[in-house]
Amino acid sequence: MPVVKVLTDGIGEIDMRSIDAYRKRDGYEQWKRALLHLKPEEVMEYADKSGLRGRGGAGFPTGRKWSFLPKNGKPRYLVCNSDEAEPGTFKDRMLIENVPHLVLEGMLLGTYGIGSHHAFIYVRGEFKEGFRTFTRAVEEARAAGFIGKDVLGSGYDVEVTVHRGAGAYICGEETGLLNSLEGKRGEPRLKPPFPAVEGLYGMPTVVNNVETLAYLVPILSRGWEWFAAVGTERSKGFKVVSVSGHVQRPGNYEVPLGTPVRELLELAGGLRPGRTLKAIQPGGGSSACIFEEHLDIPYDYESLAKAGTMLGSGAMVVFDDTTDFVKAAHNLVRFYAHESCGQCTPCREGGIWLERVLERLLEHRGLRGDLDMLHRVSSTITGTNLCPLGDSIEPFLRSVLLRFPEQFEACLIS
Ligand SMILES: Cc1cc2nc3c(=O)[nH]c(=O)nc-3n(C[C@H](O)[C@H](O)[C@H](O)COP(=O)(O)O)c2cc1C
Ligand code: SF4
Repeated sequence: MPVVKVLTDGIGEIDMRSIDAYRKRDGYEQWKRALLHLKPEEVMEYADKSGLRGRGGAGFPTGRKWSFLPKNGKPRYLVCNSDEAEPGTFKDRMLIENVPHLVLEGMLLGTYGIGSHHAFIYVRGEFKEGFRTFTRAVEEARAAGFIGKDVLGSGYDVEVTVHRGAGAYICGEETGLLNSLEGKRGEPRLKPPFPAVEGLYGMPTVVNNVETLAYLVPILSRGWEWFAAVGTERSKGFKVVSVSGHVQRPGNYEVPLGTPVRELLELAGGLRPGRTLKAIQPGGGSSACIFEEHLDIPYDYESLAKAGTMLGSGAMVVFDDTTDFVKAAHNLVRFYAHESCGQCTPCREGGIWLERVLERLLEHRGLRGDLDMLHRVSSTITGTNLCPLGDSIEPFLRSVLLRFPEQFEACLIS
């Protein structure tokens, strides 16, 4: 079983929340090394050569994202995205609650690597405990001299701001997040300009996920070659996968990218006794389902895309034969309809329309033509919006509608 412990090492066994506990495990050694012995370009080189890709959903290469920052002398910012509201995803919460100093050290390395002096972390509103724990970690790191003016006598100044959101899924989208951080409505911005050029307060900004930034620490300590040697040709390194749904041991499992889906299912204890597998949503609420015939595909960006779905945030939701897929589809569509910020007509109106049709089906009052309407409306929403939230409504619905039409047809009255 390829379970590995890199970011998750010690979680659930040792309390690593205090700076003393973290430093006993060589905490902040990479931060010291970077400040005293590496140039920012060298830190960027580590990120780039490791092949690290963003773990927040889109899988964009981290080093390449950093390289887009213009060299125009303007202040730059690093923003750590800890909004984590993608259905089924609970890995970032585990990291900020259990290893806050590891995340903070990764943020500091990223901030230095992009030539910035100010990092922000946007913590999901509901993560009260994570917010408290992370704020405490920042205070401890400041008291230890790892944050502030002239850090460790290096001449480098750095500030960290911890910001708590107010519980809106759309504030996880990077430009919605930046607006919210600026005190505006959390609505996604029209792109371009991309955040790298015009981000927070109009300045060049990098937004990276919690897990992405945390991996910088082991990449620096063990070398980019170590990270790049794991995984597949284009999906390098490790991934913390949140496995939930109809499994016996739901939880976060850290594995090399490319681990077969079947092994992830087994790590989570497999299905409950006597049950059979119906579907797996492999990459968070926005991904299409895969099925029994896909169990042997490797869990990596390319293989999942080839199977018509995506790795997304790395949240695997398992559905067994007790699942009512009309209910499941209604639940997810209702979530997206509720979380739509309302700027785009197809997302705002289409989501509500789909929700109402599914509600009718749930009540066994479906009309002839409703299933066609579900297909038509959901495909009309896709590709016609400002941000990917609109496009997230269709994949799950479409995949289960095509795979289990009998469950939907059973809800029609005419
Ligand atoms: C509706 C929506 C919600 C998102 N929520 C999150 C989130 O909670 N955390 C996150 O890291 N990325 C989220 N993303 C992706 C971010 O926009 C962005 O791509 C990511 O933070 C970049 O970090 P990475 O390159 O390290 O993956 C979301 C995107 C969309 C469209
Ligand atoms: S797609 Fe939806 S959530 Fe995204 S900007 Fe448009 S209305 Fe807002």
